[in-house]
Amino acid sequence: MINKNSKIFVAGHNGLVGSAIVRKLKEKGFKKILTISRSKLDLTNETKVYNFLRKKKPKFIFIAAAKVGGIYSNNKFRAEFIYSNLSIQNNIIHSAFRCKIQDLIFLGSSCVYPKFCKQPIKEEYLLNGKLETTNEPYAIAKIAGIKMCESYNKQYKTNYKCLMPTNTFGPNDNYDKLSSHFFPSLIRKIHDLKKKRIGNLVIWGDGTPKRELIFVDDLADACVFFMKKKIKETLINIGTGKDFTIKSYADILLKIINPNTKTRIIFDKTKPNGTPRKVLNINLAKKYGWEAKTNIREAIKITYQDYLKNNS
Ligand SMILES: NC(=O)c1ccc[n+]([C@@H]2O[C@H](COP(=O)([O-])OP(=O)(O)OC[C@H]3O[C@@H](n4cnc5c(N)ncnc54)[C@H](OP(=O)(O)O)[C@@H]3O)[C@@H](O)[C@H]2O)c1
Repeated sequence: MINKNSKIFVAGHNGLVGSAIVRKLKEKGFKKILTISRSKLDLTNETKVYNFLRKKKPKFIFIAAAKVGGIYSNNKFRAEFIYSNLSIQNNIIHSAFRCKIQDLIFLGSSCVYPKFCKQPIKEEYLLNGKLETTNEPYAIAKIAGIKMCESYNKQYKTNYKCLMPTNTFGPNDNYDKLSSHFFPSLIRKIHDLKKKRIGNLVIWGDGTPKRELIFVDDLADACVFFMKKKIKETLINIGTGKDFTIKSYADILLKIINPNTKTRIIFDKTKPNGTPRKVLNINLAKKYGWEAKTNIREAIKITYQDYLKNNS
């Protein structure tokens, strides 16, 4: 039974999701949160991961460490994306099993689902069709992680859960020009235009594709909620169930970041739109009593304040 004195290991505690999980655990009164920097423990090193877990013996593990990025880096660094993610998750999951750690949460991503999936996407649609090519190596690694947890649960009666979040944003995000996701990248572009006081906002495609976003504090809330919850399924979607067009996200961001702007949005229709729609069916999470709470505008304001503090 996990309680406030249980030792909880958050792998990837410096990242967007890992840092939010640490904040949420502290807020909920968990006292023994175990973290370790990459310089002290490279999670792609199996022996070191096993020795660390054997020595520290946490009661619960969150796997929020991964190689993560937007469309450009996923497509360009395909080998690193498949190798790093497979290694990190294999090492942690298998070492956890060897160290008799019964409970963990593995974080995947909604890109594990087929490119042309029926909407909203149910957990059962996994492996129903072809994946999006640009992030296929990443998605294959994440699918392997899900199947690994499922297989250990079936064969060894472990309690390894896999949460599949939709696009996530919030404090501590990556705003790098080449490796960021679409939403932090929009924040950076609009902020840069505000500073320059001139120029138009150029968006790839025609702005009509719809995307779902979740605030990272809500995702962390789901992680802590499902850490303690007994569930029979291994895989569970985490989102808001609501999606909006890329154009409407750009409009909201412009109003929040640069309300007096005369910036025009230019749609570069020579660039691809990507998947027309990607929204998760969140009924399973709801059935267990979890739903996202933060208002999107409020979440964007918090995120932009964090961006200003750390990036400008
Ligand atoms: N961001 C999203 O939109 C999103 C959406 C859905 C799902 N997720 C999932 O959430 C999880 C976390 O994503 P994130 O956005 O928080 O990523 P992130 O900000 O890039 O954080 C990843 C963390 O993993 C650590 N890490 C990577 N390789 C490592 C290694 N070899 N050894 C030790 N640590 C290593 C990084 O350490 P350093 O700080 O040293 O680099 C970083 O702290 C991922 O599984 C991802 O699939 C994210």
